[in-house]
Amino acid sequence: MTTLENGKCFYSGSTANLYKVRFDKLTIVKILREEYINNQAALKRFMQEKSIVEKLRLHNVPHPVFVDLATKQPYFAYEYIEGTHLNKLIQSNHISQLCSIGIIRRLLILLISFKDAGLVHSDITPDNILLDSNGKVFLIDFGCSDFPLRTNMTTSTWISKYTYCSPEQAQGKRWSFQSDLYQVGSLFYEMLCGQRINTGQGREALAMAANPQQPELLTIPEKYWPVLMALLEPKIEKRCGSPCDALILLNNIP
Ligand SMILES: Nc1ncnc2c1ncn2[C@@H]1O[C@H](COP(=O)(O)OP(=O)(O)O)[C@@H](O)[C@H]1O
Ligand SMILES: [Mg+2]
Repeated sequence: MTTLENGKCFYSGSTANLYKVRFDKLTIVKILREEYINNQAALKRFMQEKSIVEKLRLHNVPHPVFVDLATKQPYFAYEYIEGTHLNKLIQSNHISQLCSIGIIRRLLILLISFKDAGLVHSDITPDNILLDSNGKVFLIDFGCSDFPLRTNMTTSTWISKYTYCSPEQAQGKRWSFQSDLYQVGSLFYEMLCGQRINTGQGREALAMAANPQQPELLTIPEKYWPVLMALLEPKIEKRCGSPCDALILLNNIP
């Protein structure tokens, strides 16, 4: 058994604290805060995230690290990624169109694996994407993820950030793999034009997510429009049907 003495809490989320600890390698330990141990909804969500992180072993996702901590609070651990947040790069205008395509391609390939596993990430935002010094892309934060086919899930209090919500999530309707595709489309849009597709703040952003306006495409080269429109289609039944189809559209960009 070990303790977190050599680690420091570097992030306090809504229900959990994150520690950065050096075991054999730099590791993140995510611990449910004490006041939530008896909160059934928070505990269930935390255990779901733990189970996903401990089972997923994919490129572009931090791998689990198994440690034995002397604590009664639920926790799990995974690789620390030395990297920069995508939102920092977007804000500093440091992303070329080529680099944006590369990031979207990695995410779509990851979504193919998620679809095979029946998993919807549901919080694909620039805060949850890290790029390491080699330009490798990592998707983190499975705190909103779920298996919608298994759980017959509709949106709940664990909804992703309003500004990146798909219309169906914002409307409280059923999620699907296509909800992740909408979020990838929002990211692509933001990387290409430097503006969020949903410019609302707070609850206003949720209302805008539920009823999205036609995206303003005029500042974006026309060759990107087919893929953006396929991903950002508000009606789920008309949206691009799978990450594979989206990848084909992306690869067809001249
Ligand atoms: N594997 C990781 N490597 C490096 N930093 C991480 C890692 N996981 C999380 N972080 C940092 O901690 C922050 C919060 O983690 P996250 O899992 O996204 O929690 P929350 O659900 O509160 O957003 C991230 O935005 C990132 O800065
Ligand atoms: Mg996060």
